[in-house]
Amino acid sequence: MPTLLITGANRGLGLEFARQYAADGWTVIATVRNPDRADDLRRVPGEIRVEQLDVADVDAIRAFAATVGEPVDHLICNAGVMGKYSEVDPDSWVYTLRVNVIAPTVLALALVDRIAPGGKVVAITSKMGSIADNESGGGIIYRSSKAALNAAWRSLAIDWRGRDLAVAMLHPGWVQTDMGGAQAPTPSEESIAGLRRVIAGLTREQSGSFLDYQGNEIPW
Ligand SMILES: NC(=O)c1ccc[n+]([C@@H]2O[C@H](COP(=O)([O-])OP(=O)(O)OC[C@H]3O[C@@H](n4cnc5c(N)ncnc54)[C@H](OP(=O)(O)O)[C@@H]3O)[C@@H](O)[C@H]2O)c1
Repeated sequence: MPTLLITGANRGLGLEFARQYAADGWTVIATVRNPDRADDLRRVPGEIRVEQLDVADVDAIRAFAATVGEPVDHLICNAGVMGKYSEVDPDSWVYTLRVNVIAPTVLALALVDRIAPGGKVVAITSKMGSIADNESGGGIIYRSSKAALNAAWRSLAIDWRGRDLAVAMLHPGWVQTDMGGAQAPTPSEESIAGLRRVIAGLTREQSGSFLDYQGNEIPW
């Protein structure tokens, strides 16, 4: 069966990704920052291998990637933080860039030679990273991190054109998770079902696209 490698799998969207792919019989390599807080993940039925990884630690990312022996069909870089929302706090900004931009990019670079033929390499980004769509302002730390993620991954997609894989930056919608809050309109089951359809349908020609969970293109 195919293999998914996903970061931040203990709660929120990452947990739902793990649940849905495992239910379809995939092997899931599920990384979590703190394995002691992964009870929900451990209760998910199926082939799930829980691995410790704090994505803020670049050396740990590289060391972890070196342990991944099998081909990875889908790599989903999901772990993310919001950072301080209404304050431009430099420490929060730097940390948010480490987690939201540097970590997924370093992980993807470290694993690209392990991606199976026809594989998908996905960053969970946000519409809040769209400069064209920003009409309400605010959220400087989070917005800039996701815009930077998109810029970095657009380059990965171009740099990897010769490889048999597709890269995408995907927006999950505004989803009911700890980050999205209870007032978010979209349940995580619906978001992830949509994202899985988009990922399954991604072609090499579409590599480098910025899409939402319904497959709509988002302006940069
Ligand atoms: N929910 C939304 O409405 C929404 C909208 C657009 C984009 N997104 C994006 O979707 C992704 C998942 O968000 P979510 O809503 O599921 O958020 P969430 O409920 O807050 O979960 C975030 C996940 O990221 C992990 N994480 C954070 N920092 C980490 C680190 N240093 N090392 C390893 N794991 C770390 C968390 O692990 P811990 O439990 O250890 O903290 C948790 O598993 C994020 O990239 C987010 O930006 C979400």
